[in-house]
Amino acid sequence: MIAFDNVAYSYGGGELLSEISLRLTPGSFHFLTGPSGSGKSTFLKLCYAELLPTAGSVTIFDREVRSLGRDEVARMRRRVGVVHQDCQFLDHLPLAANVTLPLAVTGRETNAQDLADLMAWVGLGQLADALPPALSGGERQRAAVARAIITSPDVLLADEPTGNLDWEMSLRLLKLLVELNRMGTTILVATHDLNLIRNAKQQVAARVLRISNRRIQLAGADL
Ligand SMILES: Nc1ncnc2c1ncn2[C@@H]1O[C@H](COP(=O)(O)OP(=O)(O)OP(=O)(O)O)[C@@H](O)[C@H]1O
Ligand SMILES: [Mg+2]
Repeated sequence: MIAFDNVAYSYGGGELLSEISLRLTPGSFHFLTGPSGSGKSTFLKLCYAELLPTAGSVTIFDREVRSLGRDEVARMRRRVGVVHQDCQFLDHLPLAANVTLPLAVTGRETNAQDLADLMAWVGLGQLADALPPALSGGERQRAAVARAIITSPDVLLADEPTGNLDWEMSLRLLKLLVELNRMGTTILVATHDLNLIRNAKQQVAARVLRISNRRIQLAGADL
């Protein structure tokens, strides 16, 4: 689904990531962990061609990213949902309009019942008309997940989705991701929260990727 072949990335200085070769197979659940500044967000950006590798190749849905034209990148992005580290919303638009924005910008209609079901699923059924500044951190994170999956993506990339949440809310968000994975979505979550990973492993066959010394390795059972 997403494959890295001897990939390196540099923002211009030395290499931040080197010799990365790995595959995210359909239906898999991966965590990506590593210290702050180690390149987790950068890796996620390589996964949806927001950044292009400075060496090696990244293949998304069987296409090498450098071979994709602008329209093809746009088409590919429709199949990839992203929860950004700083889940930005348009503060003057109600939550429902923010969540359906990925459909609106690509000229697609929103089915009112599907939207109501999705908002209820993330526990925001009562807040469809609220403005983003009025939401709590946990509500914002769940809205960001709703926005990322409104297009029914094949892959969901979530960057520190529980970053500002208390433990109870983190578990609630994790449960949504696990349910989504059970319905077939491939999931990659960047997080520094090892407790979250330990908890997830009791619910789902998640693999853990760890960034260390610019390389990404599969972590063992010793979390
Ligand atoms: N656009 C950019 N230009 C130059 N350097 C950047 C850019 N974006 C990130 N970096 C640097 O690359 C390194 C990795 O950043 P990245 O955001 O991928 O780390 P991270 O693992 O996600 O960190 P955190 O856990 O704090 O979110 C950092 O040193 C950062 O300063
Ligand atoms: Mg980050």
